[in-house]
Amino acid sequence: MGRLEEKVAIITGAGGGFGRRMAEIFSQEGCKIVVADFDVENGKKTVEKVKEAGGDALFVQVDVTDDASTKNMVAKTIEAYGKLDILVNNAGKQGVKKDIAHMEVEEMMPYLYVNVRGPWLCIHHAAPELVKTKGKIVNIASIAALQGSYGGTAYGVSKGAVLSLTYAIANELGLYGVRCNSVLPYSAATPETLRLLGEEFHELRKSGNPLHQLCTADDVAYASLFLASDESRSCTGLNLLCDCGAHVRSCPFDLQDFKKNNVYEGATPLY
Ligand SMILES: NC(=O)c1ccc[n+]([C@@H]2O[C@H](COP(=O)([O-])OP(=O)(O)OC[C@H]3O[C@@H](n4cnc5c(N)ncnc54)[C@H](O)[C@@H]3O)[C@@H](O)[C@H]2O)c1
Repeated sequence: MGRLEEKVAIITGAGGGFGRRMAEIFSQEGCKIVVADFDVENGKKTVEKVKEAGGDALFVQVDVTDDASTKNMVAKTIEAYGKLDILVNNAGKQGVKKDIAHMEVEEMMPYLYVNVRGPWLCIHHAAPELVKTKGKIVNIASIAALQGSYGGTAYGVSKGAVLSLTYAIANELGLYGVRCNSVLPYSAATPETLRLLGEEFHELRKSGNPLHQLCTADDVAYASLFLASDESRSCTGLNLLCDCGAHVRSCPFDLQDFKKNNVYEGATPLY
């Protein structure tokens, strides 16, 4: 008997790093998976992988920032599987490391759209189904929600909002037995973060936590599995840190690199 036997889960961003691994691991535990992503090719690849391993999965194209698209995602899930037990808000936007003066507002807003409006809309449309099943919501936030970082005014702020959303939903939907929790991963070298931030960044990040290691997709998938299963029945509004202990460490490891790229004319940094 799997830990998610006969359950139905929507995993947004399941065409990518963490989300694909969640789809595989949830499926091994008996869960039917709706792979929800705007990337058709990678989303379908995840479905193939789940099916090859003997699981049941369906691809639904979604833009999590879009009202009609997220509504359709939930409708397609009900049409195919008849219910919804688990929503994982994993789709996210990562990348830019610029200080506040050098970042354009046009660069800032997409973080709020994908990382805040996205989970809000998915919960908004999934809530009427989740209350029927006493479902679970897992929001993938980030250690950046708790730690100030150089260049974090867009991404960090957006992930901080994910925690606030989690607390509010834990109260609102807790009334109906729905639980809502967050996972806060540390940096992981997923294909997309390697493309956006490079290998050197990830090497440096290792020195930012007591374990001197990065997070992996498996770490995030297993933490999410715990929160999606009945094993976490007393947890709601929780921040589950998968950060290799980074929250107890203070280390300006990325400062030199940051200073090189964000120069204020006529001003010299103090250190
Ligand atoms: N990788 C890390 O270092 C790290 C660390 C902490 C938190 N996180 C968070 O974990 C989550 C997953 O990270 P990842 O590294 O696996 O990301 P990724 O970029 O590899 O995958 C994200 C997936 O989301 C999809 N997506 C993006 N915007 C979308 C939209 N508007 N609608 C639908 N789908 C969309 C992409 O197509 C992609 O398949 C994100 O929320 C990210 O912020 C990642």
